[in-house]
Amino acid sequence: MRKFGLIGYPLTHSFSQRYFTEKFEREGISDVSYSVYPLQRIAELTGLLGDPELQGLNVTIPYKEQVLAFLDDKNEVVREINACNCIKIEDGKKVGYNTDVVGFRDSLLGKLQPHHTHALILGTGGAAKAVEYVLIKLGLSYRFVSRHPRPATTDLSYEQADAALLRSHTLIINTTPLGMYPKIDECPALPYEAIGPLHYLFDLVYNPEKTLFLKKGEGQGAVIENGYEMLIGQAEESWRIWNP
Ligand SMILES: NC(=O)c1ccc[n+]([C@@H]2O[C@H](COP(=O)([O-])OP(=O)(O)OC[C@H]3O[C@@H](n4cnc5c(N)ncnc54)[C@H](OP(=O)(O)O)[C@@H]3O)[C@@H](O)[C@H]2O)c1
Repeated sequence: MRKFGLIGYPLTHSFSQRYFTEKFEREGISDVSYSVYPLQRIAELTGLLGDPELQGLNVTIPYKEQVLAFLDDKNEVVREINACNCIKIEDGKKVGYNTDVVGFRDSLLGKLQPHHTHALILGTGGAAKAVEYVLIKLGLSYRFVSRHPRPATTDLSYEQADAALLRSHTLIINTTPLGMYPKIDECPALPYEAIGPLHYLFDLVYNPEKTLFLKKGEGQGAVIENGYEMLIGQAEESWRIWNP
């Protein structure tokens, strides 16, 4: 049996387990399993890695950074952004990858237009690093908007994200959890009236399908995209890494 799975904590509901189990059934992939491993402490990973049948893991909150200490090697993206959400285990060697980057890039490109040259990234957490990596690779200019702008950076506060700033930044990417189920009436504090048809609003949140952030953008005529395609993209990229 080839074993795969997801580590994180807590793991009350897992998109990945459902996705891979359905994929295995749909595509007739047998002698393989995908399990969830809620680890209260990252130290518990050592025991899990002792399973000789384990060939790959996805990694979610809060371990995308802590897991780096367990890796024998990292690909270029992981080295650059210090966040790993996919591990391939081959002959006991553990190699780290970041498939959020591929998932986000492919989904973003679906609706990106040449005039989307200046972006705002809302939030500065783990997913924001994957988003930043993609924007740099695409040659787009960007600023972070944060509740706590980091000293000696170009981070902006939400107070600084005024109408003029929004008009000059037509790509806005929400990497905060605001608006995620069950708190669906929350959204980042922005002057949404400054958004128009030239804007592209991308929300990494995928539940609900249309967050308040996206609804407000759509109401102003903006192009919108939620995080669902990215989620599928990162899962499929993990599978490709585990099965080259
Ligand atoms: N679609 C996908 O495939 C996919 C993949 C990865 C993540 N995600 C989603 O992306 C979101 C972020 O994930 P993450 O791993 O980056 O989480 P994270 O590391 O906790 O970072 C989230 C960031 O959002 C900001 N934030 C948090 N709470 C906030 C609040 N109440 N108000 C305003 N800003 C707040 C914070 O930035 P500041 O402190 O700088 O304000 C924080 O660093 C989650 O909803 C996650 O489900 C989706």
